[in-house]
Amino acid sequence: MKDALPSVGEFKEVLELVRSESVRYLDNLDERLVREPNAAETAEALIEPLPEVGSGASAALSELIERGMDATVTSAGPRFFHYVIGGQTPAALGADWLASALDQCAGTWVSSPLGIQLEQIVIEWLRDLFVLPEGMGGVLTSGATMANFCGLAAGRQWCGERMGVDIAQAGLAACAPIPIFSSGYVHAAAVKPMAMLGLGRDAVRRFERDDSGKLDVEALESALKELNGAPAILIGNAGDVNTGDFDPISAMADLAERYGCWLHVDGAFGLFARTSPESIALADGCERAHSLTVDAHKWMNVPYDCGISFVRDPVMLAKNFTLFADYLPAPNDPHPMLSNLCAESSRRARAFAIWGTLKAYGREGIRVMVEKHLELTRRLARGVEEAPELELLAPAQLNIVCFRLNAPGRSPEELDALNTELGEAILTDGRVFAGTTRYRGMTALRPAIVNWRTREKDVDLLLSVVRELGATLKV
Ligand SMILES: Cc1ncc(COP(=O)(O)O)c(C=O)c1O
Repeated sequence: MKDALPSVGEFKEVLELVRSESVRYLDNLDERLVREPNAAETAEALIEPLPEVGSGASAALSELIERGMDATVTSAGPRFFHYVIGGQTPAALGADWLASALDQCAGTWVSSPLGIQLEQIVIEWLRDLFVLPEGMGGVLTSGATMANFCGLAAGRQWCGERMGVDIAQAGLAACAPIPIFSSGYVHAAAVKPMAMLGLGRDAVRRFERDDSGKLDVEALESALKELNGAPAILIGNAGDVNTGDFDPISAMADLAERYGCWLHVDGAFGLFARTSPESIALADGCERAHSLTVDAHKWMNVPYDCGISFVRDPVMLAKNFTLFADYLPAPNDPHPMLSNLCAESSRRARAFAIWGTLKAYGREGIRVMVEKHLELTRRLARGVEEAPELELLAPAQLNIVCFRLNAPGRSPEELDALNTELGEAILTDGRVFAGTTRYRGMTALRPAIVNWRTREKDVDLLLSVVRELGATLKV
């Protein structure tokens, strides 16, 4: 009878199986449909009761591979333009596997000097990569939502201190409400932390110049004047998820200085504009923010999950996140304790994948990839402009092309329905993936390019699939 406990010998068998299956999957990624037509049924077929007796490691994983593969979405492949989802480079994947194999807990120095040291190294490398000021610190998070949470928690604490309240100790009830101001570009993942931080989603006021969501700087300034010196948090958006457009971050930094505000910038993907001389001007002013968010699992192409929270003064993170327990290092312990800078206590050693990426490909590798994506974006936008039935809805200045299918004589409602149908048809078709959004009151497509494997032929295929499916809908 099989032993109920694992055996050490299983590692070799299991890792060899996973290695060969992974290589097969990754080698075929360019050819696979983004989603197999039977994906939903395949996923549902996995539902079963808890096994009373296990089948053993190799058998279990073989079964997962056999029964589960058709339910994956090849979001790591070159033809996934939905949301903003990167793939993984060989170096990042290898380093991430190593992180799992070594199973390092990157919370305290005692639990992993390697995990802690690598994280400190990559935070410094990333600060340099994104041309942020020396001395700015930070921490790795599970993604941009949690990086926004960290940066906004720091901002909340800073505002509290200006009102004489230590919010982390005394709670929000001890101080006046904190105003939060942004533009219409503010991402849902910067609003969600408002609920988590007790500030409330409704606290976010958006100042919009028009229905595109662009920041109305004058209206923002008027609102700040009315605060009469009370602190506020400004959220600047470096990369609107619909169009890739940027808030005027420099102007927001001027206002933050003039009126005494904490400036947080959500640059989940847009901060990568700062890695190329071609695009850095778009993200001008980010270096003046008090806190910034960026994702590594998007444009850096490291596997899920990995985000980065930069904070000019990391003490503001520590004030929120320090753990007090007798069995843990004291807050004044000389060794760094990264659990004291973020919401998690036990943490995956996410720095491995970033270290592997930057060591393998360097600053140049990131710049070349970003510039290739800028060019592919322009190519796609040109294709849209040249197609008589398509309408480009916003300038494509970074990595997103916002457009829709247009048809003469159709009402706005009919056009919305047509584009919704087109979005659904693209996902069902599966050769490429791109999703719909609402932009300026219109239903639109907004493909985003962040995968290092994406080539001209993938972008051309996207355009031809959109046109082909669009033509069938119009009939
Ligand atoms: C601007 C922006 N901020 C935040 C997020 C949320 O990122 P994550 O899913 O890593 O939490 C996204 C995701 O697309 C984004 O585009």
